Amino acid sequence: MSRPLDFFPYKNGSLSVGGVSLDKVADQVGTPCYVYSAEAFLKPLKEFQKGLRGLDHTVCFAVKSNSSLAVIRLLSQAGAGVDLVSGGELYRAELAGLSPDQIVFSGVGKTPGEMATALQYKDKGIFSFNVESVAELAALSSVAESLDTRARVALRFNPDVDPKTHPYISTGLKKNKFGMSREEVLQIGAAIESFPNIDFQGISIHIGSQLLSLSPLNDAFARVRALVGELNQLLPQPISYVDLGGGLGVAYKNEKPPRIADYCKLVHKHFGRKSSVGGKLKILIEPGRALTANSGVLLTEVLYRKIRKEKDFLIVDAAMNDLLRPSLYEAYHDIVPVRRDGGKPSLKRTDIVGPVCETGDCFATDRKLSKEINQGDLVAILSAGAYGFTMSGNYNSRPRPCEVLVNKGKIRVIRERETYEDLVRGESW
Ligand code: LLP
Repeated sequence: MSRPLDFFPYKNGSLSVGGVSLDKVADQVGTPCYVYSAEAFLKPLKEFQKGLRGLDHTVCFAVKSNSSLAVIRLLSQAGAGVDLVSGGELYRAELAGLSPDQIVFSGVGKTPGEMATALQYKDKGIFSFNVESVAELAALSSVAESLDTRARVALRFNPDVDPKTHPYISTGLKKNKFGMSREEVLQIGAAIESFPNIDFQGISIHIGSQLLSLSPLNDAFARVRALVGELNQLLPQPISYVDLGGGLGVAYKNEKPPRIADYCKLVHKHFGRKSSVGGKLKILIEPGRALTANSGVLLTEVLYRKIRKEKDFLIVDAAMNDLLRPSLYEAYHDIVPVRRDGGKPSLKRTDIVGPVCETGDCFATDRKLSKEINQGDLVAILSAGAYGFTMSGNYNSRPRPCEVLVNKGKIRVIRERETYEDLVRGESW
């Protein structure tokens, strides 16, 4: 289980990554900028792969959490597949060199165009469409028919368990828009001949994100197993794979999320050799945050300190358009100075805010931070590798930051900072 500073230790008084100080990164590329650690992406991937050993499995990285080509490539070269939710992500996967059997396509609203592209991916078609409604299944069948091909499908089952996470990222309750009930899945199973170009072979779930306990997953996995049993009575061919989704939480502060090894044990318990399904199913999982959150920071420079009696404001050059999570979910991200001289700093209550004209443009409120942090100093917003850059935008006509990957002591710009020309591309006046 990853923690914010695991891969960003202080060395010689400066926050660093892979042996490189973040001062140096800022000197080279400017701020604000996302900085990632290659090592940090790979460690949890290896833990999942090791934990699932003995099962036929693929760890499908949820690209929505960090969709940089270099990151997709890094993880896929280490054996990961991908979980995608749009034609744009499929395009990225293709550029990053993913093979068809490493790709699953999730999401409630796939368009016929996206379906056609995925069905023809590298002439073979992707491994699995995770289908969320009868209407979508009918559309997929007819797109496949028009292309004279077949679609391999997992139906997304909504197991109606409470993941006990933020309501915006909870997906596995009956009231959520995602997936289908047991009854709906069984109805489709009983009428599968009415979808002639569909190979119904799998069940998928995803109950929510930032899960801090295994117990909702335990319930959900049990329900999946029971449903597979029921479907096998109905279908001409037994279910051959289950996709257990993502959702494993990480520490942003002092949470104690489940360990990856324990998550994998739970998978073995339900689907392994000794389980009632006897290890016959291929297992897919779709972790995003667990691979990416603590693999990146948002590096930003202090523009001004606004001194007030009760608390100060540090105005930094990053803003809500660069990292939306605190504004959108009141998400907690630890914020630390890049330089630390070792002495005991005198602390003051501080809000860390961006320059955007919204009160909500605030990364943190009432943090106890050193009074010494001042104009020109660098601070790092931690745990920003997941849903950071991917949720960024251009509000207030702010060019998006660059992204840097540090691998074996080498700094590489994997995405350039946007320019003003980028901001107006495609516009006419
Ligand atoms: N699979 C599916 C079908 C998903 O919808 C998601 C995330 C994942 C996998 C990966 O979940 P993870 O392992 O990263 O928890 N923007 C929010 C998170 C939204 C998650 C949406 N779905 C945030 O910043 O916290």
